Amino acid sequence: MSDITTVILAAGKSSRFKGSISKLLFPLCGLPIISHIYEVARKISGKNIIVVCNEDNITELKPILKNCKFVIQKKQLGTAHALEQTKNKINTENILVLFGDTPLIETSNLKKLIKKFNSSKSIASIIAFKTTNPYGYGRIINDNKNVKEIIEEINLSNKQKKINLCNSGILVANKRLLLKNERYLPEIFKILFKKKLTTNFIECNEESMWGVNTLNDFSIVQSILQKKYIEKFIDNGVNFLNPDSCYINYDTKIEPNVVIESNVTIKSNTSIKKNTIIRSNSYLEGVKIHEGCSIGPSARIRPLSTIGKNTKVGNFVEIKNSKIGNNVSIAHLSYVGDSEVGNNVNIGAGAITCNYDGKKKHKTIIKNNVFIGSNSSLIAPILIEAKSKIAAGSVITKNVPRKSLAIERSNLKILRNKTLK
Ligand code: UD1
Ligand code: MG
Repeated sequence: MSDITTVILAAGKSSRFKGSISKLLFPLCGLPIISHIYEVARKISGKNIIVVCNEDNITELKPILKNCKFVIQKKQLGTAHALEQTKNKINTENILVLFGDTPLIETSNLKKLIKKFNSSKSIASIIAFKTTNPYGYGRIINDNKNVKEIIEEINLSNKQKKINLCNSGILVANKRLLLKNERYLPEIFKILFKKKLTTNFIECNEESMWGVNTLNDFSIVQSILQKKYIEKFIDNGVNFLNPDSCYINYDTKIEPNVVIESNVTIKSNTSIKKNTIIRSNSYLEGVKIHEGCSIGPSARIRPLSTIGKNTKVGNFVEIKNSKIGNNVSIAHLSYVGDSEVGNNVNIGAGAITCNYDGKKKHKTIIKNNVFIGSNSSLIAPILIEAKSKIAAGSVITKNVPRKSLAIERSNLKILRNKTLK
């Protein structure tokens, strides 16, 4: 649909949001709010997208929104004024206007709107929605399916406050609309109606039209999106034991036949293959987990990690920037960082890789079939060759050759306290 230009209005100052950055950059399920909208816009207009931003957020928006034009609105004089700034940049007959703060919109909503606009030959069509709590939204006064007027919250009479048909802000219009000298986009509808020009609306569900003005809106929108993502996984055969307690990222990949217990957090860049169980309270980020694994409860896996097949990462284990092989057991209370661990390795309770010397990080390499005894410390850089064993409690400072036992312990002394009876 490249015969339409999509304009995303993103120049507001986010004053109600009270965040230190523009609300449009706030990560919603790991992706900035504006990027959710941008992805939908691309499906409608390809590269034919103009983003209206302000002098401050342009530097933050430019690197994340590729392949579109930017226009700056110097003073925030309202949504119609924002749209007006694009006047000389639009070379299509029609425009689709999206607000940068309604991230749950779906391509299907927009296609439906454009279809209505084209088939009814209207000059402007908007998306409306009904809600039980319309507070804050512009209300639509309609004459059948025509929009007579849109009245903002502050201008509503007490009677009008009860109207629950709301303006989503999303509209398709003929370019001529841009020539109106209004401040706020909704005001244009009154003028068009008076001129007896056809304006109409379609209704979409409330959930996809939620505007993010406050942090409270943000948390509601995030939980709607979480629910949507998790339901999609459940439909695809992922077993969430307590879905409401989990967090997953927009880019999370989980294969069927995976079990996710309660309170599991999955941040960016994580994939989980089939027949794996992620037990309660685990926190995963930037990790590829292969099939048949058992992770947690209370495991933390940090970025740039890979867990091989049929591997166990147990309670209070932290793994960072490490490649762990197949059939490995790191069952309790370990730290494995900047490491390469081969296949069939056992890392005992409390064993750790000491990767940091205070200035630099160093690597630990543990080859196949190695046994690391409990509570041992491997001082990196270090290499433990295949089929070797490290005795429990040892501090290992030298490389260990193949098929060897490394033991480092001071002699045990047992001294009797002769004063006690
Ligand atoms: C707006 C609509 C309201 C609608 C609601 C839906 C107006 C006047 N009101 O209200 O009818 O129900 O959205 O969520 O349009 N922006 C600019 N420049 C400006 C002002 C705003 O680019 O000068 C951008 C903002 O960054 C934002 C969008 O326009 O992305 C909407 O602005 P916002 O202040 O959030 O309007 P609402 O009060 O939510
Ligand atoms: Mg808003």
